[in-house]
Order: sequence, then C-alpha cells, then structure tokens
Amino acid sequence: MKKKIALIFGVTGQDGYYLTRLLLSKNYIVHGIKRRSSSVPTKRIDTFLNQNNFHVHYGDLTDAASIQNLISIIKPDEIYNLAAQSHVGVSFFTPLYTANVNAIGVLAILDAIRNSQKKMKFYQAGTSEMFGKTKDKFQTEETKFNPQSPYGTAKLFAHHITQNYRDAYKIFACNGILFNHESPYRGENFVTKKIISTLTKIKFKIEKKLILGNLYSKRDWGHAKDYVEAIHKILQQKKPDDFVIASGKQYSIKQFVNLTASRLGIKLKWIGKGLKEKAITSSNQVIVEVSKKYFRPLEVDHLRGNYTKAKRILKWKPKTNIYQLIDEMINEEKKLIKNLKR
Ligand code: NAP
Ligand code: GDD
Repeated sequence: MKKKIALIFGVTGQDGYYLTRLLLSKNYIVHGIKRRSSSVPTKRIDTFLNQNNFHVHYGDLTDAASIQNLISIIKPDEIYNLAAQSHVGVSFFTPLYTANVNAIGVLAILDAIRNSQKKMKFYQAGTSEMFGKTKDKFQTEETKFNPQSPYGTAKLFAHHITQNYRDAYKIFACNGILFNHESPYRGENFVTKKIISTLTKIKFKIEKKLILGNLYSKRDWGHAKDYVEAIHKILQQKKPDDFVIASGKQYSIKQFVNLTASRLGIKLKWIGKGLKEKAITSSNQVIVEVSKKYFRPLEVDHLRGNYTKAKRILKWKPKTNIYQLIDEMINEEKKLIKNLKR
C-alpha cells in the first residue's frame, strides 16, 4: 500500500514531537517545517532525524512563499498546522507578530491548499483560549467564543477561516479545539513545566524559590501524547468537522502546585493574601511567592472542556490522569538533575 505523506508545521514543538512519533509508527512519510534559529531548533525531534521516512525543511508561517513552495513540492495527503506563537502571556508583548503567525499564516496554508491540484486534508490547532471569558461551566463545540488575548483572538480568526475555506472551497479542513495539554516536552515557560521543574529542583536543593503569577485561574490539563491521537483521528473521518479535546477535569494553579509538592513529598502551608501570598515548608522556608511580573493584562479565569462529541464520533477519550502526568514530568526532571550532577 502507498504510504501516506504528512506535512507538519510546528514539528519542532511539543505536539510536533508526539505527532511525528505517532505518524511514523503508523508508517507515514513525515515532512516537518523548522524555522531558522541561532540555536539548534530540532532538539525535541533529534531521535527521528536519521529515519528514512522523516524529512525536515526550512520554512516560516510568516513567509507565504515558503509555504506555497513546500506544499507544491511535497504534495502531502495531510497537513497538520501546529505552528504558532503559542504563549498567551507573550502575545500581549508581540501582538502583531502573533497575529501574523497564528492568523495570517493559517490563511496562507489554506490558500496554498486551495490553489493546489491535489486534494489535501488540513488540521488547524485551535484552542480553548478562544472561549476566553466564558460563563459556561463546561465548554463544548457550541459554546460562544470570547477571547481575552491577542493569542486567542488570532486563533479565533484561524478557526473561522478554516471553516470558511471548508465551506467555500470544499476543502477537508478541520479545527481541533484543544484544552491545555502538557508533557515532559512542554516549553519551559508554561506554568505546569515551570512548577514541576522548579519544585523538583527545590527538592534537590538546586533552586530556592518558585515565583508565579495568578494562582487562582483554573485549567483543564491533559497529556499531549493522548491529544495528538485525537488530532490524527480528526483527519481520518469521512466528513471534515471541529472537535473539543479535553480531560473534563479542572484544577487551579494553586492546586497544581499542591499536587506537585505532595507527589515530591514536600509539605506546604499557604500564608498571606494577594501579592503577599506565599507557601512555606515545615521548616518555615518560603518556597513559593507571587509576583506581578507574571500576571497578564487580561486573564481567562476558568476552562473546562466537554469532549462528548469526540468520544462519540472519534471514539477518543483521554488515557492519562493528572497524577500520571505530573509523575511522568517529575521523573523526567529527576533524570535531568541526575545528569547535571554527573
Ligand atoms: P509549541 O511547543 O510552542 O510549538 C509551536 C511550534 O510552532 C514550534 O515548532 C515553533 O517553532 C513553531 N513556530 C512558531 N512560530 C513559527 C513560525 N513563524 N513559522 C513556523 N513555525 C513556527 O506549542 P505546542 O504546545 O506544541 O502546541 C502546538 C499547537 O497547538 C500551537 O499552535 C498551539 O497554539 C496549539 N495549542 C496548544 C495547546 C497546549 O496546551 N499545548 C492547547 C491548544 C492549542 P520553534 O520550535 O522554532 O519555536
Ligand atoms: N506561563 C505562566 N507562568 N503562567 C502562569 C504563571 C507563570 O509563572 N503563574 C500563573 N500562571 C497562570 C496563567 O496566568 C494562566 O492563567 C495559567 O497559569 C496557565 O498559563 P500557561 O501555562 O501559560 O497556559 P495558558 O493556559 O495561558 O495557554 C496554554 O493553553 C492554551 C489552551 O488553553 C498554551 O499552551 C496555549 O498555546 C494554549 O492554546
């Protein structure tokens, strides 16, 4: 049987790693796009670089010519757009750049597909941040969008333009609306990775303090490995459609700190309020503090997804619970610390 060809924008990121691993295991030929960078951008995907079925090319979502060239040369069966300026906080500092990559870049891919002779399926990495300030306790595909950041707003354009190209040009184009998903491969400046990495280092006396922003926002966290399985399933359906992918569980940042501390055997007591809120150990060492620096101009207070549609149509459900996720991330940090000490 002829091997399917996949093209992944954002192959060097967290989800890029897990999706590449999944597609290679399914015997795909995988092409990925990397950006020019002054440091090595392919750290996460190093293990795949010597495989015959895996190819990496230079390109950039802000360069429509590079997108068009790549799509016309590679002629993929499936295109996964995971590329984005993916940090919500950073999007307030770089709003135009974020919109260029996360909104206009997606349109450039869709337009290249429209102009191609070959039929290609398209996946757009949408996000629960599009729900933003929501009154709904659980968010579904029907929940009203109300984004609160340049990131969420740009992603909402991408969501609508994907639907627009699907309807107008009959392109097999789908949106995933994914809630937060984490893993040992998560970027360092996302809150779960920051909490786990710093608390583990505190446990091993390599660091002294964890400094966070808003402790009271609530998120629905799953494992990236499970979520890329849903992404792949979305493109294997008979009809193109949009799906919420979530765990259905919700924890505050403070609860995530408490869970991580307890998995590490650190006893914490919280004292103070607002910017003076702190967590101290049984020996009165302050190990968690709050700083204004990490607050955003606008916050999304709570997110919690309802994945009933994905369960019904994709036969998908999350496999990893929050305890397993935290333990896996802690174990990875412990390995890194061991290597540091060698
Ligand atoms: P990530 O680790 O930050 O990866 C983002 C990828 O996009 C990286 O490969 C990055 O390249 C690439 N990229 C950034 N700007 C680019 C540009 N101008 N041109 C080409 N590539 C560019 O993010 P992730 O966690 O894997 O998330 C994957 C996608 O899902 C993103 O679109 C994100 O917005 C979306 N999403 C993520 C979550 C989540 O919780 N993880 C939830 C919902 C939606 P470099 O490696 O060179 O930076
Ligand atoms: N990053 C970060 N750093 N966030 C902090 C910190 C901190 O020191 N302290 C508190 N937070 C709070 C943020 O204000 C936010 O409410 C929450 O922790 C989660 O922040 P992130 O881990 O940065 O993730 P996010 O929810 O903003 O965005 C992630 O999930 C989205 C899906 O809902 C990203 O992966 C996005 O790309 C994704 O679309």
